[in-house]
Amino acid sequence: MHMMLNGKDFVRLGHTLILSVMVVVVVCSSSSYATPTDIYCLKTIKASLEDPYNYLNSSWDFNNNTEGFICKFTGVECWHPDENKVLNIRLSDMGLKGKFPRGIENCSSMTGLDLSSNKLSGPIPNDISQKLPFITTLDLSSNSFSGEIPLSLANCTYLNVLKLDNNQLTGSIPLQLGQLSRMKTFSVSNNRLSGQVPIFGSSSIQVDSYANNLGLCGGPLASCPGIVKKSRVGIIAAAAVGGVTFMAIFVGIVLYYFSRGVVIKKKEDDPEGNQWAKNIKGTKGIKASFLIQNIAHRKKLFLISSLHK
Ligand SMILES: *[C@@H]1O[C@H](CO)[C@@H](O)[C@H](O)[C@H]1NC(C)=O
Ligand SMILES: *[C@@H]1O[C@H](CO)[C@@H](O)[C@H](O)[C@H]1NC(C)=O
Ligand SMILES: *[C@@H]1O[C@H](CO)[C@@H](O)[C@H](O)[C@H]1NC(C)=O
Ligand SMILES: *[C@@H]1O[C@H](CO)[C@@H](O)[C@H](O)[C@H]1NC(C)=O
Repeated sequence: MHMMLNGKDFVRLGHTLILSVMVVVVVCSSSSYATPTDIYCLKTIKASLEDPYNYLNSSWDFNNNTEGFICKFTGVECWHPDENKVLNIRLSDMGLKGKFPRGIENCSSMTGLDLSSNKLSGPIPNDISQKLPFITTLDLSSNSFSGEIPLSLANCTYLNVLKLDNNQLTGSIPLQLGQLSRMKTFSVSNNRLSGQVPIFGSSSIQVDSYANNLGLCGGPLASCPGIVKKSRVGIIAAAAVGGVTFMAIFVGIVLYYFSRGVVIKKKEDDPEGNQWAKNIKGTKGIKASFLIQNIAHRKKLFLISSLHK
């Protein structure tokens, strides 16, 4: 049973295969000039960041041209230890300052970027999906990034984890991010965001993902003012329909018992049965136990079942 794949699994499997093929294609097609590209990427990153504690300066030494030498750099993980092809960059909590490092686009097959808990500022680039097309984990939390969350993130199809919390981001969250079907962790708490939040498929994205902003609404949060108006109309309509239905049922029941009453009256030669009918009318819940307890009393049983038809 657990081995059976449903449609969603097949789509996932398909995506995974496509990603694998794409990565293989990227790695293979660029292998001839892979080394200069990824080395250039890290050189650019190092040059663009202020590194007051010398983390990069002491470790990122470009004077060694051995294949795979960048894979020993602090925070750099390669696809293979003997190949200068960057898989992940993790530079968390190093006191780094500066803008989002633009040179990152030259690490063309990177899947994870963690720049959390630094002092980076300025905007997140609008074309981030072109810079990081295969990104699965992006952690820019606990910096001073400002401006809006770029719409282009919605094109990062493989994103599982997007952490933008504890920055100074403003504006609204692009609703298109809800299309990212692999998203499992999403946090934008402690920013200055407002407006409607995207609707994600994952149930793990809850209220705390959005805490401490200027006024977010929708999804797991309280519904948005504009939406409330719409849903109020819906509630009124539903109430009207419900009211009419209730009245119809009520009238139907009254008419039904009215007509039954005539039948029961005819059976007043069975006073016990009449008493039953009265009891049943008052208490719906005991119907089943009545039926079981009195299964032998066929005549009474018939009376009950006819009352509840
Ligand atoms: C870096 O990436 C940009 C954009 O993809 C490209 O135009 C440029 O040639 C790359 N530089 C190197 C040294 O690979
Ligand atoms: C980088 O490290 C070298 C020695 O490893 C040192 O001479 C140089 O001053 C450092 N640069 C900065 C900007 O701290
Ligand atoms: C260059 O890097 C390789 C692999 O990290 C290391 O074994 C070698 O000692 C390094 N050479 C120099 C001159 O730093
Ligand atoms: C997302 O990708 C589509 C298709 O490649 C493209 O047309 C669109 O401009 C992209 N959107 C952004 C915001 O980059």
